[in-house]
Amino acid sequence: MAATQHLLDVDGLSWPELQRRLAVAEQMRAIRRSPAGRVSDLRDQSVAMLFYEASTRTRLSFVEAAHALGAHLIDFDVSSSSVGKGESLADTVRTLGALGATTIVVRHDRAGAPWLAAQAFSGHVLNAGDGWHAHPTQALLDLAVLVRHIAASDGSLTGRRIAIVGDLLHSRVVRSNLHTLTAAGADVRLAGPAPLIAGFHDYVASRTLTRGSIRVVATADEALEGADAAMALRIQRERLDGASLGSTETYRMEWGMTEERLARVAAPSCRVLHPGPMNEGVEIDPDVAQGPRSLVLEQVAEGVPTRMAALWIAAHGLDAPPPVVPV
Ligand code: CP
Repeated sequence: MAATQHLLDVDGLSWPELQRRLAVAEQMRAIRRSPAGRVSDLRDQSVAMLFYEASTRTRLSFVEAAHALGAHLIDFDVSSSSVGKGESLADTVRTLGALGATTIVVRHDRAGAPWLAAQAFSGHVLNAGDGWHAHPTQALLDLAVLVRHIAASDGSLTGRRIAIVGDLLHSRVVRSNLHTLTAAGADVRLAGPAPLIAGFHDYVASRTLTRGSIRVVATADEALEGADAAMALRIQRERLDGASLGSTETYRMEWGMTEERLARVAAPSCRVLHPGPMNEGVEIDPDVAQGPRSLVLEQVAEGVPTRMAALWIAAHGLDAPPPVVPV
């Protein structure tokens, strides 16, 4: 079986492999811009969406991606399924396989669920976010947006400073981004409130970097100093488990992505990202989220070509030429 049969994680993907995925996504973007806006090259594929946890951006962009490649969609609804009667993940996955699914897209609140799905399924499994662990397609779309806006002359992120600020502890986005951004050569600085950074120093220390760097710093200002790009992370209140972060205003003053803070410490051209959904007025101010620095909606739009590329590569491998752009 091809090594790219699944997309469970980005950890371990080399910079050339990431560049290849960006190139395939670029071709998918061209297909989306074409008059037809779609092709039918994946018409032999049936894609099942298994979302055990809420999602707007990831689920809808996978749906759009499957449509744009001509795949059949099995829009499985966990809340009205037999999962409520105790059906296991493996049983659901095997059932979907028996119904003709060739690809399964899994979001789950338990880290590792996509790996369990892959053990029970003979087709392709794509991780759409598992617990605090990984969010591979989010990291790939973030990388595509950052390379477009702040790449060095060689197309990498070498020498670029990227700040990631907020709820690091609960963020699968930061864990996947740490690999892709450093593999691209970026110097990443992380900061967040003490209850949300506990254990993160060990996590960072345990990582082996081939390029770039990661530093955990004490304040948002330190993280943002001279940053070419800054990503705010959502406070994941549903995962706080009783930990108190004080008032919303205190959080905003200490950790919020505010225009005052960006103008004072970041590079003048610093661009701002947020994986969404946003708590505006808490980890990011509305005038930043909707202002000229913001790449937030570009991140959302990038989800479609990035996930088209993920579906294509799972079905055909990393080296297969992507579909021809229709005229
Ligand atoms: N970024 C992200 O995963 O958003 P959703 O939860 O809306 O899919």
